[in-house]
Amino acid sequence: MFAIYATHADSNDPLAALKIGERPEPDVPEGWVRVKISHASLNRHDLFTLRGVSGHPEGITYPIILGNDAAGTLDDGTPVVIYPVMGSDDWRDDETLDPKWHIPSECIHGTFADFAVVPRRNAIPLRKNLSPLHASVLGTAWLTAYRALFTKSGLRAGETVLVQGATGGMATALIQLGQAAGFEVWATSRTEEGRAQAKALGAHQSFPPNGTLPRKVPAIIDNVGSDSWAHSMSSLARGGTLVTTGGTTGFEVALNLLPMISDQLTITGSIMGTLKDMENMICLIAQAGIEPEIGVVLPMERAEEAFHAMWEGRTRGKMVFTR
Ligand SMILES: NC(=O)c1ccc[n+]([C@@H]2O[C@H](COP(=O)([O-])OP(=O)(O)OC[C@H]3O[C@@H](n4cnc5c(N)ncnc54)[C@H](OP(=O)(O)O)[C@@H]3O)[C@@H](O)[C@H]2O)c1
Repeated sequence: MFAIYATHADSNDPLAALKIGERPEPDVPEGWVRVKISHASLNRHDLFTLRGVSGHPEGITYPIILGNDAAGTLDDGTPVVIYPVMGSDDWRDDETLDPKWHIPSECIHGTFADFAVVPRRNAIPLRKNLSPLHASVLGTAWLTAYRALFTKSGLRAGETVLVQGATGGMATALIQLGQAAGFEVWATSRTEEGRAQAKALGAHQSFPPNGTLPRKVPAIIDNVGSDSWAHSMSSLARGGTLVTTGGTTGFEVALNLLPMISDQLTITGSIMGTLKDMENMICLIAQAGIEPEIGVVLPMERAEEAFHAMWEGRTRGKMVFTR
């Protein structure tokens, strides 16, 4: 079948490990389903896979088909969106706490292909008012944004959240979800265009990276990592919460314990979300009439263009591949 895959890991030149070609069709184990992919979205995780960066204890076995997120149809024609967190069959708690949890393109092949195979519970029937295009962006960046905002940040409606970054998949999700939930959303962006885009999506104010803010804020969601860490730490109000969700510019940071202690700051990591989170987010998107920001839609054959854009830091919302 047609597939976009990583042949190996290349930390310096990840796009050299990117290949578009033929791969064997996956077997369908008992209790799993085959999804014919119609739309699949790119995540920075795909670049990390090409670079060999993985939080998974067993690492990645190459070659591996890329892609975490997708929408498509089951063999019986049912339209579905994939919930990407999978793990032990008998795990009944928060899926992200299952010691065996993983997402497509780590232990199993990913979604950038004619077909993906997932456990039956991971194929969520699509609501009538959600298009496969919009559904295909929800599994990773949007789900993480939802959980960071509504479970981890401690924010109440009306309070201010600072989103570090504005143009990316998760940043646009944070702005759109935060605005819909009644938070005052502030965002930072490296470009004038990004700052204007943040406002067009619903941010109340936007600032250059490390820019002076009018006041400190009760919550910050930071997926930029090293480059924004010091700004995030110094921008938190007393009792505030920093939710760290990514390390686009690096994962190594310095931590001064004194302000953390004296200002009683909380730093918490957040990764993906539960199946219930994904279902609730889909309801919120429908009820609030949110249209996830999609900057680029390309046939899978032209996927390389989107990978290049992301590697060069040129994004506007999500990038979707059609099949
Ligand atoms: N914890 C989780 O479960 C989870 C889930 C999804 C993603 N992530 C992580 O979250 C991060 C964002 O993922 P994404 O898919 O949203 O990526 P993306 O679409 O490529 O977005 C990158 C974001 O980083 C900002 N940025 C700041 N400095 C940058 C630089 N030097 N180069 C490139 N971008 C820069 C960009 O904002 P401006 O252009 O506005 O400055 C943009 O908002 C990644 O580190 C990813 O691995 C984590």
